[in-house]
Amino acid sequence: MEVSPSSATVLTDSAEVVVIAVASDQPLSGPAAEIDRASGGLLARLIERGEISDKVGDVAPLWEVPGAAAKLVVVTGLGDRLDRQTAFRSAASAARWLAARKRGSAAFYLGEGWSDELTEAAVAGAIVGAHGQDLYRAEKTRHPIPKLSFSGCSEAVERGRILGEAVNLARRLVNEPPQSMFPASFAELAAEIAQTCGMECEVWDENRLEAERAGALLAVAKGSDQPPRLVIMRYQGAAAGQAPLALVGKGVTFDSGGLSIKPSDSMATMKCDMAGAATVLGAMQAIAQLKLPVNVVGLMGLVENMPGGAAMKLGDVLTARSGKTIEVLNTDAEGRLVLADVLNVAVEQGAGRIIDLATLTGACVVALGMDVAGLMTNDQGWCDTVSAAAQACGEDAWQLPMFDDYSKQIRSEVADIKNVGEGRWGGAITAAKFLEEFVEGKPWLHIDIAGPAFLEKPKPWQDGGGSGAFVRTLVEVVRRLA
Ligand code: BES
Ligand code: MN
Ligand code: ZN
Repeated sequence: MEVSPSSATVLTDSAEVVVIAVASDQPLSGPAAEIDRASGGLLARLIERGEISDKVGDVAPLWEVPGAAAKLVVVTGLGDRLDRQTAFRSAASAARWLAARKRGSAAFYLGEGWSDELTEAAVAGAIVGAHGQDLYRAEKTRHPIPKLSFSGCSEAVERGRILGEAVNLARRLVNEPPQSMFPASFAELAAEIAQTCGMECEVWDENRLEAERAGALLAVAKGSDQPPRLVIMRYQGAAAGQAPLALVGKGVTFDSGGLSIKPSDSMATMKCDMAGAATVLGAMQAIAQLKLPVNVVGLMGLVENMPGGAAMKLGDVLTARSGKTIEVLNTDAEGRLVLADVLNVAVEQGAGRIIDLATLTGACVVALGMDVAGLMTNDQGWCDTVSAAAQACGEDAWQLPMFDDYSKQIRSEVADIKNVGEGRWGGAITAAKFLEEFVEGKPWLHIDIAGPAFLEKPKPWQDGGGSGAFVRTLVEVVRRLA
């Protein structure tokens, strides 16, 4: 996809398609008003008759509009508030609609006098909306539009492109089937991306992980024929002395549950269990391309959770890299085992602050639904910073409490801690309490993305499958630290 700032006006643009937007209960603004005037009030009449909707997600095509050079004018709804979420979704819905057929080029004229943030969000949205999940279909359902242009300043358009492509990278990694996206292949791709973007990258293989005594991560890997990997990617945007922000991702490339095996229906989408690592990789790519003046280290714990002959067993006691012992009472609570060791490495890397992202618990989806991520922290100020960034990007997240009493649930009779709570209630929080044991008191935020990381059904603005959720939030956090 070639993405550029537009060099014409909505009426004269030589693109095959121009996209305009209409907001609820507001006079037609800028480009929409121009189209309306040139067409003798066509747009206003169709809105009046209810043929064109102003709701976010609704898209209406108008062919051969008098006065417009483009063959097709697409009208996308902006709803009743203009923010980055509506800008993203509105542009994405139009792009997704357009990408259902092959198109040569589309020019977006969504409004006049938009801030750079809104332009960026719209550009990112259009890039995301135009890409589908049909990686292996002969007949594609989405045809990415080769040429996109946007009204707005050229730097903002470029930043939007970087964001949109980072989100699509995370989506693609999640959408790849588990037979091609496994720990070694993920790590290889990560190393390639690091090289392209000029980042340092270290990959720990199974031997190195042994030498590093990463006993919790390795125990999960033992049930699989696929060897594990740990990727450590360093982006240096500030002075070498600045303690880096650590972004930590759960990268379980397939979660069968292990010996505590999942029923088939719950296992069907478990290629998505590396979405945390994919989010971190997407964000690292964007942070490096945007050259943000902050030090960031990305850590991705990559394993496959399988019930092979050497698999960890219920009752096994593991020694984590930190030295803590863990009694395994459910092999399907594997994400926290992987993260225990990766968080320990993050601390050792000198992280000043930590964010981890993980498709960690079904309980979080029960608590908050499919579209909202859970936030759990040991540092309220840090949580507030990230939460504000998420809200600004229009990515929905909600905090869950971390009262001391939850910690009692993970005490073990045999070892220091056990990998499940007492029963299933509050399962998102007991999982977070387990992770907290490995951050050595550093300011830390855990984002449980089990709901929003993977769309079971498409949205008007995005195809189903991997969503790339929270890539944009991570980048926004880093910008705010700058
Ligand atoms: N990867 C799953 C969590 C998950 C569930 C992600 C649904 C995406 C959608 C995780 O490893 C898991 O199996 N968690 C268990 C924990 C339990 C055994 C304590 C769960 O949520 O049931
Ligand atoms: Mn599991
Ligand atoms: Zn899992």
